[in-house]
Amino acid sequence: MSSNKSKSNSVRIIVALAATLIVGTFVPTTQAQESGKTFEASFWQFLMGNNYKNWAPAPGQDGDFYSGQVPHGALLKMYINRSAASDVAGLQVGSVIVQENYRSDRSLKSISVMYRTEGFNPAANDWYWIEYKPDGTVVEQLSDESRQESSEVILASTSAKSTKLSGKSSSCIACHQRAAGSDFAFFNDQNDPNVAGGRKAEAISLR
Ligand code: HEC
Repeated sequence: MSSNKSKSNSVRIIVALAATLIVGTFVPTTQAQESGKTFEASFWQFLMGNNYKNWAPAPGQDGDFYSGQVPHGALLKMYINRSAASDVAGLQVGSVIVQENYRSDRSLKSISVMYRTEGFNPAANDWYWIEYKPDGTVVEQLSDESRQESSEVILASTSAKSTKLSGKSSSCIACHQRAAGSDFAFFNDQNDPNVAGGRKAEAISLR
């Protein structure tokens, strides 16, 4: 309502995000919308503020580039937060997975994020999907967006015609549902030769 109120909401969210770093558990802050700032923008601020590049690499990785595939980059780097690292098989609520997608010339193309937040989308393991451009804005999909099964919009997007790749993004979900274990995450599917863990031996070193 008043700008004071929205300011104090923003402050509260930032404090919650800062507290997250200290206690190591990401507190869902999907109320960020109330502050007038999109959840995606607040989450980007969280990622920057927490310097995700210092997070743990996925198990079996050394933090260096590894080869990727469509639709992600030719080269990838992955970082997981403490919640995810502490239970890679279970990927508890609060888990955050950041995957940097690079072109073959090693320029950064986009940053794919999965954040598991309780109750957001139980049908798809409660992941909140976001595809960021390197500047922190959300990638927009220009093609016709296929309608999602659920008509319920938990996090009302700022505009109904939005085709941003975020939230319950059907294109992310459609592919990630093939991941083993119904957790929508590939990297912990150790026996799948198509994913990072299984391809460790082939990981290319660019140094
Ligand atoms: C056509 C299939 C496909 C689509 C669409 C897709 N992904 Fe992925 N994604 C993959 C595969 C395969 C991997 C594993 C890549 C690897 O590690 O080599 C992956 C990995 C990831 C990872 C690292 C965690 C994991 O599951 O291993 C994140 C984060 C991610 N994708 C986010 C997204 C987001 C966000 C979208 C939507 C904007 C998306 N993906 C769309 C296939 C897809």
